[in-house]
Amino acid sequence: MAKLALKGGKPVRTKGFPSWPVTGEPEKRMLLKVFESGRWWYGEKVREFEEKYAGFQDAKYGITCTNGTAGLEISLISCGVGAGDEVIVPAYTFVATSTAVLKVNAIPVFADIEPDTCNIDPRDIEAKITRRTKAVIPVHFAGLPSDMDAIGRIAKKHRLRIIEDACHSWGSRWRGKGTGALGDAGVFSFQMSKNITSGEGGIILTDSREIADAARSYTNVGRGKDKPWYEHYILAGNYRMTELQAAILLAQLTRLKAQTEKREENAAILDKGLKGIPGIKLMRNDRRVTRRSYHLYIFRIEPKEFGVTREKFLEALSAEGVPGSQGYPFPLYKNPLFQRKGKGPRYCPLSCPYYGGKTDYSSVFCPNTEKICGDAAWIFQSVLLGTKSDMKDIVTAVRKIKDNVKELR
Ligand SMILES: Cc1ncc(COP(=O)(O)O)c(C=O)c1O
Repeated sequence: MAKLALKGGKPVRTKGFPSWPVTGEPEKRMLLKVFESGRWWYGEKVREFEEKYAGFQDAKYGITCTNGTAGLEISLISCGVGAGDEVIVPAYTFVATSTAVLKVNAIPVFADIEPDTCNIDPRDIEAKITRRTKAVIPVHFAGLPSDMDAIGRIAKKHRLRIIEDACHSWGSRWRGKGTGALGDAGVFSFQMSKNITSGEGGIILTDSREIADAARSYTNVGRGKDKPWYEHYILAGNYRMTELQAAILLAQLTRLKAQTEKREENAAILDKGLKGIPGIKLMRNDRRVTRRSYHLYIFRIEPKEFGVTREKFLEALSAEGVPGSQGYPFPLYKNPLFQRKGKGPRYCPLSCPYYGGKTDYSSVFCPNTEKICGDAAWIFQSVLLGTKSDMKDIVTAVRKIKDNVKELR
């Protein structure tokens, strides 16, 4: 008789995992206060959140904006990246890490990731540096900080700007210091799926007064600091956050530390339970990471050793009552945008002479990224807010699939 739920057996779980977002009285109270004040536009709450969040991540300045995508673009401009520059980005990340580069008329150069962290490989950063390289964007993928010691050394040697894509790493720390405060600028997203959310939203952190002033001006239609309201100094846009968003974020921030610790505890239970199952490869732990936010819990399925493909495994896992995802199906450079298969206007420098180099992505190949796109399994952050017994169910489900893998063939 079939044991696996996919084949008609009894599933390990029938109840769900915690839903997201977690909200309650603090959100309602803060939101109502702002609502009733009639002051919904950039003001007291936004400023309070900027200060508190920058403090939480150990940065001097925080500049809120509409989302993480805009935050990356604004950080690049504020750090002086522009037309003709190259910016090294990982090939395994959300599209915004690379399109923000194009939006400032610079060229994204893809570097491979480490197979046991999903973070940019510092050795490949060095290999991809040219005389045009101006900056690097390490993504602290899934909340695990990139190797900032190595990246810092490379950046110093080659005089590169570091813009951290910290859009997965609220609360993460590298050697005791918050992510987003480790490079020249760092960007966080508060989009709906993120570990602290206002539906949409973002913040740029920096320790540099100059970058902070530039970023503030770029988010605020090019206005100058302490200058008359209708004087505009630079070509910019309106990327301001509202008081309503800031009110929700201030309430969410009160939960972030405890939730981060809970996710870490639960991830440790998963690590312990899944370690040693043939065909399951876990991500590396690094002692220099002193807190890890876990936007995702990632592990890999070696199809030969485990006995089935990642796709079949995820199907069986879902039937057992545990939601998982394959994540990005292909490396970023294989997107139609980079392979020139997209319709509509092409961004400069993909289509204009500023760059002066070759912008052909058809032969880019990052072997680790290619492999991980085919064998990674993601478990979302809200699942990690479950109980210890919920985590044990996940381990039981994976073990059950491994023990009965023949049923899937
Ligand atoms: C790694 C990464 N960078 C940037 C972004 C962009 O953030 P947003 O959705 O707030 O524009 C995301 C969002 O999913 C992300 O995952």
